[in-house]
Amino acid sequence: MIIKTCKTIPGSEITDPAVFKQRRQLIKAMLALGITGSGIYSSFADATEVNWQNVPKGYQPKEPLSATSADIVKNHTNYYEFTYNKTDATSLAQALPIDPWSVEITGEVEKPGVYHLEDLISQNTLQEYIYRFRCVEAWSMVVPWIGFPLASLLKKVQPLSTAQFVQFTTLNDVKNMPNLSDKHVLEWPYVEGLRLDEAMHPLTILATGMYGEVLPKQNGAPLRLVVPWKYGFKSIKAIVKIELVKKAPLTSWSKSAPHDYGFYANVNPDVPHPRWSQSTERVLGAGFFTPRRKTELFNGYADEVASLYSNMNLREYF
Ligand code: MTE
Repeated sequence: MIIKTCKTIPGSEITDPAVFKQRRQLIKAMLALGITGSGIYSSFADATEVNWQNVPKGYQPKEPLSATSADIVKNHTNYYEFTYNKTDATSLAQALPIDPWSVEITGEVEKPGVYHLEDLISQNTLQEYIYRFRCVEAWSMVVPWIGFPLASLLKKVQPLSTAQFVQFTTLNDVKNMPNLSDKHVLEWPYVEGLRLDEAMHPLTILATGMYGEVLPKQNGAPLRLVVPWKYGFKSIKAIVKIELVKKAPLTSWSKSAPHDYGFYANVNPDVPHPRWSQSTERVLGAGFFTPRRKTELFNGYADEVASLYSNMNLREYF
């Protein structure tokens, strides 16, 4: 368990030391990548020039993907704790305090503990992962995330041999998340889960940034999951707890509508949602007359992940 105490940091007198240290380490990590952006980084003179040559690339797609405009990705979001529409989380989520932030890692694991975000970031190598992102509502985008493989964190905390699944939980902030009083759509907090081998897969990342900047609050800051071969609802935002468990977790969407949303939620054009087809998708940002894109099995990542499901009937385990 590693909650590190804060050392005195010169210049931090005007800020809470914990907040100062977290920001400093995040900035250091981002600068090491040659990443700059607006907001917190703009006060650093040497951070004004973006040098993408220095950004280590994570997964390399077979064909280069061109990212969806950042404006679209930041302003078309699903964040049910705040709103059921796609636009209002951009402003509503700004009230969420995310600094300092820590994640509890618990359950069937050798090294449980409460880990500060700054430690998670400094002890893992941030890279850029340009992934397709396919929502179960049949729209899609391409996002250049910045993060690190979930596997590298899990290896450090050492899952026990009894651990079969990983359960993730979002912050439950009744004061700042207006919909937490509404239990009609989902039970809160938002919970998601993966099988342990899915969680350990190198494509599964924890994201802390996107588009060369720190992750916007409406997109799940400060820490969210990204699983590119699964429908977007698996990619849980604002994670505060990661629990290694023996049995498949009861996830928010499968609990609220078990016939609509399965635990696996692998992108699959041949398994329709009960109320709509999944065979094509609307590409966000594409022109009005651009035809819909044909949805690919496992969202185009079949070469990498199909072996995880080789003995499974994907209609049954949807
Ligand atoms: N995580 C939390 N905590 N709350 C949510 O409402 N929505 C999910 C997922 N993660 C959601 C969440 C859904 S339905 C999708 S499609 C993606 O986040 C959307 O991510 P984006 O808003 O960054 O595009």
